[in-house]
Amino acid sequence: MTAPPVSPTHWPAQPTQLRCAIVGTGSVAHLHARAVAAHPRAALVAVTNRHRPKAEAFAAEWGQPAVYDDHQSLLAAENPDVVLICTPPDAHRRQTLDSFAAGAHVVVEKPPAGSLDQLDDMMAAAQAADRELAVVFQQRAGTAVTHVRRLLQSGALGRPLLAQCLTHWYRDAAYFAVPWRGRWASEGGGTTLGHGIHQLDLLAFLLGDWAEVRGQLWRLARQTETEDCSTATIRFANGVVATALSSAVSPRQTSSIRLDTEKATVTLDHLYGHGHDDWRITPAPEVPAAEADQWAFPEPEERSGHAPLLRDVFDALLAGQPLPASASHPARSFELVAAIYASAAAGGAPIAPADLSHHPTHRQSFASPVTDLRP
Ligand SMILES: NC(=O)c1ccc[n+]([C@@H]2O[C@H](COP(=O)([O-])OP(=O)(O)OC[C@H]3O[C@@H](n4cnc5c(N)ncnc54)[C@H](O)[C@@H]3O)[C@@H](O)[C@H]2O)c1
Repeated sequence: MTAPPVSPTHWPAQPTQLRCAIVGTGSVAHLHARAVAAHPRAALVAVTNRHRPKAEAFAAEWGQPAVYDDHQSLLAAENPDVVLICTPPDAHRRQTLDSFAAGAHVVVEKPPAGSLDQLDDMMAAAQAADRELAVVFQQRAGTAVTHVRRLLQSGALGRPLLAQCLTHWYRDAAYFAVPWRGRWASEGGGTTLGHGIHQLDLLAFLLGDWAEVRGQLWRLARQTETEDCSTATIRFANGVVATALSSAVSPRQTSSIRLDTEKATVTLDHLYGHGHDDWRITPAPEVPAAEADQWAFPEPEERSGHAPLLRDVFDALLAGQPLPASASHPARSFELVAAIYASAAAGGAPIAPADLSHHPTHRQSFASPVTDLRP
């Protein structure tokens, strides 16, 4: 006879108010605190930082939540409903596992983990604890992307055919002079993992699962061990072929997606967040105007960002519902990025999801050879 599954019975019933805690009170944590403050049924009750004065300064700015020396003492004393993890990626796994063990849901900043194996541990722990693991890719939120995704999924734009995903960002030499940046061991990856992942995640949010990736890593200008540019070809399971570029050396900064379907070209041009004006849907010449009129963006507009994403996550947790699509699939774009690195390590050979599931090196680390083109 098989034993019944063990389910945590000691968690409190559905909370009516979410008691939130922030671990790692650095720059992105302010966006989390603002999103908590904006939600009528969430409250920031505790914060911690490995440098206590930083946590104290943060607490003074955000309504004086309790301050703790480390996440373990915070969890033991406060029993939060939600832990918002805003530390660097190498700390995410431990802090996530401990939060689940304490009965909290976890919202973790991108990239979700330091490696694929670490993310697997985090997802397994979520399942075992019957808690939710939400990853922050805030560009999935907002009315524009919701609308475009719905048009694509309903077939209104016809079959999607090809795509381009471009992250042209600029990070100067001083940015990479910080000791942990630009190194495989401490940053985990270069501009593909640190920057390009936002647009790659958005592309996968629109198109679904990917089937094959070929990638190359380049060092064009910066003094780094990791890449400052990558190029990739991605084939999605729905047959879309995409090219992707991630750069940290591009003075005129833009983040762009272009998607050609049977009936339209969809473009997005922005930098760190988007609203309706950043998107354009251009119909093919033969599409009747009355049909294209149906594709207009709905009012009112809500821009992408941490606040709408966390609101939707909090609403789902309060209602005992599954996470919204904007916070689901924690591994998809992380694996897509891993595949770019794994392909680069294999001289540009194609990588499929199955190749990653038991990959000999890239489950633990994305360290890969980079072609150095600096003079
Ligand atoms: N979604 C986004 O747009 C976005 C933007 C910026 C950063 N991020 C992500 O957020 C995370 C944090 O980035 P950041 O820019 O805020 O970094 P940051 O360096 O400004 O802040 C991180 C803070 O965590 C603290 N810290 C480090 N290790 C800790 C530990 N073990 N326990 C407690 N505190 C610890 C540090 O003292 C620091 O104050 C990273 O994963 C990053 O990729 C996401």
